[in-house]
Amino acid sequence: MAVPESVAIIMDGNGRWAKSLGKPRTYGHKVGAENVEKICRAADALGIKYLTIYAFSTENWKRPESEVSTLMSLIKTYLNRCIKTCKRDNMRFRIIGDRSGLSKELQDLIVKLEDVSSIYTGLTLVIAINYGSRDEMRRAFIKTGKKFLSEGKSLDEIKEKEEFV
Ligand code: FPP
Repeated sequence: MAVPESVAIIMDGNGRWAKSLGKPRTYGHKVGAENVEKICRAADALGIKYLTIYAFSTENWKRPESEVSTLMSLIKTYLNRCIKTCKRDNMRFRIIGDRSGLSKELQDLIVKLEDVSSIYTGLTLVIAINYGSRDEMRRAFIKTGKKFLSEGKSLDEIKEKEEFV
């Protein structure tokens, strides 16, 4: 079987699954978070090199405060755990998304996890936190603009693109 080098998963259905069991949505998130570890192990065993998990979108901030805070707490617990297990699992971690919108504590944890796990050569787990298509387009345009400028193109030439920023 040909194994893809990179696989991406959008976490979805946690709430509906918990509801079907008569449990609160947050229970679904808790089990979903636990499943990430099992999925990583399976992906690594299959020979997948990059696994991307879309965990928390910019839209997710609109959820009730208690649900957002449960999600942030689960993410924090998971990242803390990964700092301890990355050596055992030979796993590298990269976090994508707009981290500037996250708490200082979470930002520091992300820096630490990326740093301590950067030497490992097995599965790379990319976790998308505070991700959104609008934000990705904005950053892509900024990157394109910077590239044009470094190539000596004028601001007028990129102005049209900047209107989308
Ligand atoms: C979608 O389910 C799931 C989310 C919006 C959040 C998923 C994130 C976590 C569980 C945090 C932990 C993450 C990691 C990487 C450890 P939903 O609530 O949209 O479900 P529904 O579609 O059934 O309503």
